[in-house]
Amino acid sequence: MNPFLSLKHYYEVPKYPAIELRAFTHGLMPRSVPAMMQRFTEDWQQQGVDAWNHIPNHWKSDSSEQVGWWNLPEYLADAFIAPMLGAPAGACILLPNVHAAITSLMTCDHLFRHRKTVVVSADAFPSVLFPIQQWAALYQLEIRLIPTDTDGFCDQDSVYAAIQADTALVFLSHVGFTTSEVLSHTFLREVAKKIHQIGGLLVVDGYHATGAIPTDIDGMEADLYVGGLLKEASGSTGNGYLYIRPGLDLKPRNAGWFADAAPFSFNTSPAWHPTVRRRFMGGTTAIAPLYHAIEGLKILLEVGIDLVRAHTLALTAHAIDHIKALPITLRSPVEPEKRGPMLILEMPHADHMCHYLKKHHIFTDSRKGNLLRLAPFVWNNQTEIDQTFEFIGDTLKSKSYLHTSFQLEGPVT
Ligand SMILES: Cc1ncc(COP(=O)(O)O)c(C=O)c1O
Repeated sequence: MNPFLSLKHYYEVPKYPAIELRAFTHGLMPRSVPAMMQRFTEDWQQQGVDAWNHIPNHWKSDSSEQVGWWNLPEYLADAFIAPMLGAPAGACILLPNVHAAITSLMTCDHLFRHRKTVVVSADAFPSVLFPIQQWAALYQLEIRLIPTDTDGFCDQDSVYAAIQADTALVFLSHVGFTTSEVLSHTFLREVAKKIHQIGGLLVVDGYHATGAIPTDIDGMEADLYVGGLLKEASGSTGNGYLYIRPGLDLKPRNAGWFADAAPFSFNTSPAWHPTVRRRFMGGTTAIAPLYHAIEGLKILLEVGIDLVRAHTLALTAHAIDHIKALPITLRSPVEPEKRGPMLILEMPHADHMCHYLKKHHIFTDSRKGNLLRLAPFVWNNQTEIDQTFEFIGDTLKSKSYLHTSFQLEGPVT
């Protein structure tokens, strides 16, 4: 366990003793966020509409780079998302969410002119799967939805085999949201090579890898990589991102006026912006979320994603040691290289357990009544893992969580 990684002081933590294990949903708020939001209101107050063109560079105060609300989605993506992915400047952009990115991609109907199938692993998140299904119906595409294997993991052989000469796009999750399985760069690269041979594209959803798993976009050879900053990256809502491989020419038909090459020229026929990433912009950008987008990622990049990964692997390994001694089934991979930042545990009445834990200030989440989800992160330590699993062990033994009457709360995102 790395003692250096006790990063609690960078985040707002509850005032009372609590163990926050929900990095997989909405990471803790970085301490710097209130000041950043204050800067948003000050910029608005002091610059008014001119803030679109110029504001102080709150993100890199020692930099002379020109920042304004207009270029913020590109600027922040170049300054923070690109380094996280090992991508060059000009390839990434911040967008409201993954759904917006995938929907825009699916409106690039030229991708489907000669290729009529898309391959999707069934563990794709609904923000990916739903737009694919909707647009595929419109274009009369065949969706090859590859079922997961009996353990719920991506069936890699079947995905690979399903890519045929008529395949336009392959969609894979870098980290599966139902199991936390990590797909290796090696496998993703093999898929990329196969789809490239026939002129199609590989699209990777990296939401649960963002800020948590070292990612080398060149190493995986993905054509598009989407994700968001809400979870481990603690960027809160409204902040997804998209990487587009340089040289790829895409023209999403749902583009808005921010995708116009000359948005202020009263054009009745807008022209495509020469920069491909700008074509994925729709209408006027929601600026306020951009002020909190990067605060968490900045912490993680400064520490180094390798170190973050080593820390979470150590914590989840320690959790697994506890789990082995308890009547709980692990639904996430045991192998470190395949194990993402989240652990999914199967137990009867997991929803009751989740609620009982919450009453005792241990924060997890439950799904489907029998799955407990938790993700220790940079604000957690080994002692908290011990406390959590000792408490779960005692609770399972006493069955006290089953005897408490309560109203189930809704799940978290
Ligand atoms: C794998 C994955 N992709 C995407 C999302 C979020 O999608 P969106 O940004 O459209 O809300 C999530 C959220 O839970 C997710 O787990």
